Amino acid sequence: MATPRPVEDTEPGREAYAGVLRFYELAKRQEWQIRDLPWNELPPIPEGRGTPERRARRNDLWRSVLTQQLQADMLACDMSSQLLNIAPDPEAKLYYSTMVQDESRHTEAWLKLIGEVGGTAERDPHLDKLARMTLDADTLEEKVFLMQVFYERLIIGRFKLIARSARGTVLEDICNRLALDDGIHHGAGMAYERVLLQSASKATRQKLIDAANRLLPIFAAHALWRPRERAWIGGLMHSRDVQRLREDLEQGVRLARSLGLDVSDIRLPVA
Ligand SMILES: [Fe+2]
Ligand SMILES: [Fe+2]
Repeated sequence: MATPRPVEDTEPGREAYAGVLRFYELAKRQEWQIRDLPWNELPPIPEGRGTPERRARRNDLWRSVLTQQLQADMLACDMSSQLLNIAPDPEAKLYYSTMVQDESRHTEAWLKLIGEVGGTAERDPHLDKLARMTLDADTLEEKVFLMQVFYERLIIGRFKLIARSARGTVLEDICNRLALDDGIHHGAGMAYERVLLQSASKATRQKLIDAANRLLPIFAAHALWRPRERAWIGGLMHSRDVQRLREDLEQGVRLARSLGLDVSDIRLPVA
């Protein structure tokens, strides 16, 4: 005779992890190599026109864009390897083993590209804070939520923007690949978070909302941050940037709602 499951036992069965496994298979199929990039066929970044000063200024601008992405992917190496180590579920571990490889391949691509255009520029302090917050979060639910549900979804739009302004370059190719990869990282995070939340307490759910409220202002500062190299262009684009940021943040809130979280306490940092 089967023993009835105790009522407080809400641990999901293995079939609940089928979604996470599907993203593992997808990640394996989508895997690419650094040698697949058009290194010798296309210029690394858009070649500027005009006076040497103007061209140098454009080059500095691109170096600063690339530096921010390199920094983001190096931090993603830390965060994904933490997830690989602490996730208790074998399906999730298997998936994270591919995500660690992706983030490290992304890092390799940025390192090579930056090497071709004259080296790194200024570091974005807000990105360091975002990563710290995720690495130091108390629960697995919070880490997956901050990194995969929010950040990796919000960054996809940025890759598309960069690709659009870098047509016919290695940079465009990298951005298109990374947008696809981060789509998988985000999808896997949503699938895993759904399973985790099935057995999460009310307090854990509330902690996610608190974490979102801590993350959003820093994400906003990161999205609007302009280092010295881009300060001149930052002024021109500010109102468009704010509009885009608002749309991104609203998208983040919709995602939280779709996970069944009560988002009425989430405060958007831009009016
Ligand atoms: Fe990445
Ligand atoms: Fe990623």
